Amino acid sequence: MAQPRVRKAVFPVGGMGTRFLPATKAVPKELLPVVDKPLLQYAVDEALAAGCEQMIFVTARGKGALEDYFDIAGEMVATLTARGKAAELAVLDGTQLPAGDIAYVRQQEPLGLGHAVWCARHLVGREPFAVLLPDELLWEPANPCLKQMADAHARVGGNVIAVMEVPAEHTHRYGIIVPGQADGALTEMTGMVEKPKAGTAPSRLAAVGRYILQPEVMDVLSQHKRGAGGEIQLTDAMAELIGIQPFHAWTFGGRRFDCGDKAGHITANIALALERPDIAPDVRAYLATL
Ligand code: UTP
Repeated sequence: MAQPRVRKAVFPVGGMGTRFLPATKAVPKELLPVVDKPLLQYAVDEALAAGCEQMIFVTARGKGALEDYFDIAGEMVATLTARGKAAELAVLDGTQLPAGDIAYVRQQEPLGLGHAVWCARHLVGREPFAVLLPDELLWEPANPCLKQMADAHARVGGNVIAVMEVPAEHTHRYGIIVPGQADGALTEMTGMVEKPKAGTAPSRLAAVGRYILQPEVMDVLSQHKRGAGGEIQLTDAMAELIGIQPFHAWTFGGRRFDCGDKAGHITANIALALERPDIAPDVRAYLATL
């Protein structure tokens, strides 16, 4: 049966980003650059590549710069035009979406990822939708992660969660799936646990910040149940639906950088810089001196 296309992408960007203080005192974490592009732009490009048409940002107080970023920078455009800076103008063009394709909703209190997703319920409506956590940079430019997942979703429908295999000693940091039958990169899910205690993880397959979900998850989130860390967890809401709706984990092809973490962010900058012909020689030369 043909599956409804995933048209809407939700970007929860309401977190405080305390691991990046003091930078995040004034700059939203999602605008921190990897080389020269903000994290959020990588995630939006990924959603566009997967065929999403409507971007929904769940923002918070102090995140106004995010809205400006996707706006037309009138004065800058005028100055660059007057100076004949065609290349720079083309770069700016890449940050713009058609008018009306971006919507913003506020999460008034940082009550957790599940709560942030729930704040988008009226904009999502009753259709499948994607969730992308911009601080997780999933890098596979030839076939971005959400596109891989959308293709899998077109085949199997239901809910599709991106996962990767993590070392056993790291499972307590992630949402971990309880695996059922596997078919290549797709694994049926029979359960999910948020941050299992050391030694209790049901597998080593960890969720990495990309989800295709059915709208019923919003109904579960409406109950506002608190989970790990006292927060409203998306993992818990999904776990309630497993067994009622189909859930598959998609072991994505590509590299993952946890850019919500300082070491992960620096690693991402080095890795992507080494792929850029304009700066790779200098970066490589410096690394060779270490
Ligand atoms: P994190 O766990 O990384 O939290 O959230 P954080 O606040 O962004 O960062 P730290 O840990 O304080 O440094 C994972 C994702 O969920 C979003 C974040 O913006 C991030 O994309 N989130 C989290 C919300 O939108 N609202 C919340 O209440 C919590």
